[in-house]
Amino acid sequence: MALINIVEPAGHSVALDVPDGWSIMQAATAGGVDGILGECGGSCACATCHCYVDERLMAELPPAQDNELGMLEHVVAERRPNSRLACQIKGSAALAGATITLPECQE
Ligand code: FES
Repeated sequence: MALINIVEPAGHSVALDVPDGWSIMQAATAGGVDGILGECGGSCACATCHCYVDERLMAELPPAQDNELGMLEHVVAERRPNSRLACQIKGSAALAGATITLPECQE
């Protein structure tokens, strides 16, 4: 379990527990976080879980795999160097204290 902060599109910061083995997308949608959809259920096929990852976590995460990089080409909001798909980031101790910012739109 890791406690992270998610900044919703309107600017509200939400504290969210991400259980080990869950993705950030799963925890956020189950927790009613605004601004993340996860339409494909986490199979890396919709890009509606786009998020911006803080600098520290970006350095600790494994690099995005080819399928994630491919889907990141289809995000609706601005793609940035720290853009990731929240369904591909699994809960672990490394997430603790991280801030994830959601884009202004997902579709
Ligand atoms: S939930 Fe569909 S790509 Fe992440």
